[in-house]
Amino acid sequence: MSTFEKLPRHVAIIMDGNGRWAKKHKLKVAMGHRKGTEALRSIIRESSDLGIEALSLYAFSTENWKREPQEVEALMGLILEFFSSEIDELDEKNVCIRILGDKAGLPEKQRQVLMEAEERTGKNTGLKLNIAINYGGRAEIAMAVRKICEKVQKGEMQPEDIDEGAVARHLYTHGLPDVDLLIRTSGEMRLSNFLLYQCAYAEFMFPAVLWPDFDLAAYHEALHAFGSRERRFGGR
Ligand code: IPE
Ligand code: IPE
Ligand code: MG
Repeated sequence: MSTFEKLPRHVAIIMDGNGRWAKKHKLKVAMGHRKGTEALRSIIRESSDLGIEALSLYAFSTENWKREPQEVEALMGLILEFFSSEIDELDEKNVCIRILGDKAGLPEKQRQVLMEAEERTGKNTGLKLNIAINYGGRAEIAMAVRKICEKVQKGEMQPEDIDEGAVARHLYTHGLPDVDLLIRTSGEMRLSNFLLYQCAYAEFMFPAVLWPDFDLAAYHEALHAFGSRERRFGGR
């Protein structure tokens, strides 16, 4: 068991590289995604065991609908499979699940399963596990602005009440701390529309390893590296 000097409160991960992993192993892309869910399981378990407060995982972006229907279908199937096989253990571990993204835009079955997972674990007080599905950072900000405008229109809020905190309270991540550490696997160095507002002062790490190969050693390495970063938040 590793000990860490300073753990991030909120870790966000862009789980990238499943396609390249499949290609490297001469497998279908769906097999890469399936292998990726194994890494997902162990990173969730470890985050819970380490006592990390919040973990946000990017599983499917609003842009991922552009992929081949077969691949989208495989991903949607894995979402169902993941939740039905993991929900008991996650609930036992006191994990509180929240879905980030537009559930209304998902197929009915997926929507149901995700809502059930949120309801069942909603009062749990352990790891706050956020899974981003049909999520886009710009869409999220637009939604928050829309909700705020509706409140202003109804007289429930005044324009002068709209500050940074008020915007944050209308995002999917309301009530959670800002992201401290953002990890994107596979060597790509971009945000791809993930948690734009919440990552304002996050530390970024881009390990070269493909997501299905992201093991506990790689996770620990990122957590140790985080501990040695100097965060200044604009100060001296
Ligand atoms: C990330 O893996 C998983 C999802 C986007 C759902 P990719 O499928 O993007 O893998 P690469 O980038 O093609 O290797
Ligand atoms: C971001 O990865 C989305 C997820 C990991 C779910 P992509 O592979 O879709 O991002 P781009 O297209 O390389 O920017
Ligand atoms: Mg990718």
